[in-house]
Amino acid sequence: MANPRLRGFTWWRQKWGRKDWAILATGFTLLMLALLVTFDTWSQETDLGLNRIFNPDPALVDLTLLSHANEKGAVCLDGSSPGYHFQKGFGSGANNWLLHLEGGGWCDSVASCSLRKMTALGSSKYMDSQVPFTGILSNDPSQNPEFFNWNKVKLRYCDGASFSGNPESEFKNGTELFFRGQNIWNAIMGELLSMGLVHARQAILSGCSAGGLATLIHCDDFRELLPRDATVKCVADAGFFLDEKDISGNPTMQSFYHSVVNLQGVAKSLNKDCVSRMEPSQCFFPQQIVKNIKTPVFLVNPAYDFWQIQNVLVPDVADPHNDWLKCKLNIQNCNRRQIEVLQEFRSSMLKALDEFQQKKNWGMFINSCFAHCQTWMASTWHSPSSPRINNKTIAESVGDWYLNRKVVKEIDCEYPCNPTCFNMIFH
Ligand SMILES: *[C@@H]1O[C@H](CO)[C@@H](O)[C@H](O)[C@H]1NC(C)=O
Ligand SMILES: *[C@@H]1O[C@H](CO)[C@@H](O)[C@H](O)[C@H]1NC(C)=O
Repeated sequence: MANPRLRGFTWWRQKWGRKDWAILATGFTLLMLALLVTFDTWSQETDLGLNRIFNPDPALVDLTLLSHANEKGAVCLDGSSPGYHFQKGFGSGANNWLLHLEGGGWCDSVASCSLRKMTALGSSKYMDSQVPFTGILSNDPSQNPEFFNWNKVKLRYCDGASFSGNPESEFKNGTELFFRGQNIWNAIMGELLSMGLVHARQAILSGCSAGGLATLIHCDDFRELLPRDATVKCVADAGFFLDEKDISGNPTMQSFYHSVVNLQGVAKSLNKDCVSRMEPSQCFFPQQIVKNIKTPVFLVNPAYDFWQIQNVLVPDVADPHNDWLKCKLNIQNCNRRQIEVLQEFRSSMLKALDEFQQKKNWGMFINSCFAHCQTWMASTWHSPSSPRINNKTIAESVGDWYLNRKVVKEIDCEYPCNPTCFNMIFH
């Protein structure tokens, strides 16, 4: 799914003030560093570069490797121990927990999983020993007004199947690969429960991209682990991957999910009713998953999710003459016909969100930005220049919903109506 041409980025905004330019200039060195990062790993590294521009001094949180990972059969693709970053809660947040599942695509073949084994998305050998906690993970009340003092955990993603692979289909020939996503989930939950999660009063399971999908898959499991009288909810960010055909009429995403599910034995981790009724990989699509979730869910997803536009709607194979290339790199470059196609994609997404409309205690924030993952960056989660709908930032909207202050079902007007968007530009 990687597109090696999509290297680097800048943000585009409709109006830049003098201060914004100054901030941008300060961040230029970091941007240049980020230009070297490939699309495949953008969620980890590119965002970090960008994040520092808006949040120059975030808390750095140490990596903890899961204890006795081997005995528990909970290992990354390469057999190394999985890990997480834990920041202790304080004050009124001491018994509240926010978990965030890292994203980073999936691997669907022995070849692609073997490549992944040599990165932080497949092996803790390559993981940074510290990561900055920003946005929804920040301990700064000005950046994270509701959750700043909660216990916070970022779970590293190193299994390649949204924390949902199972070992029964591991290949034992020559190539050594471990498909242990579900074991990783179970084992890290066990460790966190013993660290105090078992006494949680309020809790949120969140995650972005492939981690947003994992959030939906494990939402009810998470709920079951916690005290009955605790308030437990889930926030999926940019995890609503649509079961849509690409522009040439091929079910690219469907075939891809089919390969991931088959390779990594994911069916066992999916809803039993769903798997008995349809092809298991169908049950890996959020639209099916949400039908069976009982815990309240909030969805943060841009209607013009650039990852989905680049990989679901217009994958390279569907655009052999590169007619879409400029548009895929910068939504401002899309011609009128391409914008029409994007509007249809948005309509499909809104239609697929029926469940979120129906359920009173569910919520959503569907903004019209060319973005992907907006909860864990200071710039998009909660800052004076964050994207807003009805003048509320994502942090304020999630806070209103989580604390039952109001019903939050925010759907933005069509692109390009919202001047508060941060729209990604790739080079
Ligand atoms: C591994 O071996 C099995 C059985 O011999 C074979 O069916 C499968 O294709 C092999 N897988 C790979 C990736 O070589
Ligand atoms: C939008 O919200 C900010 C505070 O977040 C407030 O200062 C401002 O007046 C609001 N604007 C409108 C038009 O309501």
